Amino acid sequence: MPDTIKITVVRGDKETTTESTYDVPTFEGMVVLDAVHYVQQHIDGTLACRWNCKAAKCGSCSAEVDGRPKLMCKTRVDQYPSGRIHVGPLRTFPLVKDLVTDVTWNYRMATKIKPLTPAADAPRPFVMQQADVERSQDFRKCIECFLCQDVCHVLRDHNRKDGFLGPRHMIKIAGLAMHPMDELDRVKMIKEEAGIGFCNITKCCTEVCPEHIKITDNGIIPMKERVVDRYYDPVMRILNILAPNKK
Ligand code: SF4
Ligand code: SF4
Ligand code: FES
Repeated sequence: MPDTIKITVVRGDKETTTESTYDVPTFEGMVVLDAVHYVQQHIDGTLACRWNCKAAKCGSCSAEVDGRPKLMCKTRVDQYPSGRIHVGPLRTFPLVKDLVTDVTWNYRMATKIKPLTPAADAPRPFVMQQADVERSQDFRKCIECFLCQDVCHVLRDHNRKDGFLGPRHMIKIAGLAMHPMDELDRVKMIKEEAGIGFCNITKCCTEVCPEHIKITDNGIIPMKERVVDRYYDPVMRILNILAPNKK
């Protein structure tokens, strides 16, 4: 790793953006967030970035490092041996200032998802199989960094925020729908409000998830199968009419 790196940072707001390059001294184990903090502390205190834990757990420091969605606090600068790193804000959400974007849309969409809804007569305590526990726990590792939302081409390139809730919310719904205590029929919502048909299983979301959640394989595909069973498989449609299956 060179003694000094050149970090180019997108600067500006929703009206106008530019780029500034800064020379930053390196140290062993340095991450991109350290470089941004160095600029703030020693060169330009007006540089804005969002961060909190510096431990890859709060999901605040999401940015695009050399064009890839990453947590700045989990991205070592020695991964870039050229010593030149470009850092920009998430492109899918409106820019507030420099590296800070407005991710409010994600929180608004979260309110469309009904919480876990057990049957009134569900046994207490409710005993679950370990496999069921592990399945929904995997989805609960989400730190809401929204890197998956940023990379999803439905939201990023086609801006279909009007019709698709995005991968983060798909796994939230999947975790609820797969929970054996949940009695709510979520299939119609998954198809219509959540817009699962927009997803064409490119798996880009899974590739960028810092928690390594198998968003597509374990969350989205099983939900697509439920929609197909309910709406498009003729045999399952008849069976569903005779004996409705909420799962
Ligand atoms: S797999 Fe689906 S949700 Fe994930 S990035 Fe691709 S289109 Fe978006
Ligand atoms: S699913 Fe992964 S990438 Fe998406 S918001 Fe959660 S932690 Fe981030
Ligand atoms: S600062 Fe919390 S995830 Fe990076």
